Amino acid sequence: MPSSRRGSGSVVLPSGQTLAYHTRTQDEEDLPHANKKTMADHLRKYDSLFTLTPQRMRMIVEAFRDTLETGLQKKCQIVPMIPTFVFGWPTGEEKGDFLAVDLGGTNLRVCLVTLQGEGKFELTQSKYRLTEEQKQEEGQKLFDFCAECLGNFVKSNIVSAGGKIEEGKNIPLGFTFSYPCSQERIDHGELIRWTKGFGAPNTEGHDVAAMFREALVKYEVPVTLEALINDTTGTLIASHYVNPSTKIAVIFGTGCNAAYMEKLPAIEKLGNLGEGSADEMAINCEWGAFDSFEHEHLPRTTYDIIVDETSNKPGEQSFEKLISGRYLGEILRLVICELIDEGVLFLGQNTYKIEIPYVFDTAFLSLMESDPTDELLMIIGIFTHFFALETTLAERQFFKALAKLVGRRAARLSACGIAAIVNKMGYLEDGCSVGADGSLYNKYPGFADRVHEGLVDIFGLKGKNIVTHHAEDGSGVGSAIIAAMTKNRKEAGIFVNV
Ligand code: BGC
Repeated sequence: MPSSRRGSGSVVLPSGQTLAYHTRTQDEEDLPHANKKTMADHLRKYDSLFTLTPQRMRMIVEAFRDTLETGLQKKCQIVPMIPTFVFGWPTGEEKGDFLAVDLGGTNLRVCLVTLQGEGKFELTQSKYRLTEEQKQEEGQKLFDFCAECLGNFVKSNIVSAGGKIEEGKNIPLGFTFSYPCSQERIDHGELIRWTKGFGAPNTEGHDVAAMFREALVKYEVPVTLEALINDTTGTLIASHYVNPSTKIAVIFGTGCNAAYMEKLPAIEKLGNLGEGSADEMAINCEWGAFDSFEHEHLPRTTYDIIVDETSNKPGEQSFEKLISGRYLGEILRLVICELIDEGVLFLGQNTYKIEIPYVFDTAFLSLMESDPTDELLMIIGIFTHFFALETTLAERQFFKALAKLVGRRAARLSACGIAAIVNKMGYLEDGCSVGADGSLYNKYPGFADRVHEGLVDIFGLKGKNIVTHHAEDGSGVGSAIIAAMTKNRKEAGIFVNV
């Protein structure tokens, strides 16, 4: 008798969709299926392709560190090591009401943040999901949309709530724009390139702060854009505001990146900033671009190469394409498609649904890995509900193991990036906290543990001194703190022109 696959239940996906699974007993002999031994043989192959040895990781760390250093010395490098004009850490005593707009890879968020000092704050926010069309239409239209949403938010959360906006006294705004922008001042930023699948024309090479200001004027929003920040910089500052042992911030979400605090003299390419005094500045590494174009250091599989070549930006964001949430589901889907083509999986079944690019959400990997049932009922649910495919237990065990390989590789590569900064800054002996945020870090089971394991593989037991923790809301709270720090800095006469 074939084993029963009867079961039912439901689960809420990160997208908000509810996945219900109801499965009847399916006679496994109905359809031709790969047997257990075949699947185990295939798994061995993928295991060697996706596994990173500690030695390989250390080599990546070395190359990564060199890249970070070159980025600080010379302008226009592939990993641009962007000076952010955020000078030093917050005191924790920053206070006041600030608005924050956060244009991320998936959502637009508008927040009102009240900083109360002593590392405390209050936050009210609204979220809008961005459509795929919005990511590709004229850049100015995208900023118009941000301004319109902000205008409505101000009306309903401040004006209608009885809040007063004094004549001529605009509310200070921090704009979190999570794409690489080269900055000459804190309220300016030229988009170097779109990432994460965005492609809005007439934006690359333009000052996005100026484009947003134009939209704010058009929609008569009573705000002043004080600071343009990256989500990693915001996360660095917000995490330090509540946990002063934070030295590095990382985002593992739709995209991936890191920021840290650097000594001013080490940022050689910055030259002389003129009158003022400060010792440190936050650097937005834009490390997702590591190994772009040349592909010398990262172990890319055939599937990674397909992901890259079929993306809207071939050759770019090489590190990010192996790690971030936008791509992991697609990598796994490409392996499945290869096995379909080889006649190993789903013989006699209609596979068109799973053959559509990007249809396999990275959230499915999390769900598959965390399926607690012996029969892997969750995986049955995913394949029947979304792709109309019947699976055997051997196949489901294979999918679960494959998800683990792809997710583990992402976490271990992430550890390499963190280790490169730790090495460069000499943080290993005394240790440090790394504020981390993003859907992968927050929702993928075991991601943080695997990053920590990776750090021990790289550094030995001292790797335990480097600990990641869930960061405070960088793009909202961090942005507000930076707007406050900028205001205070300028009032104190420190580098007032930047
Ligand atoms: C962007 C970064 C951003 C990261 C995380 C990357 O694609 O280039 O600016 O920090 O995603 O959101």
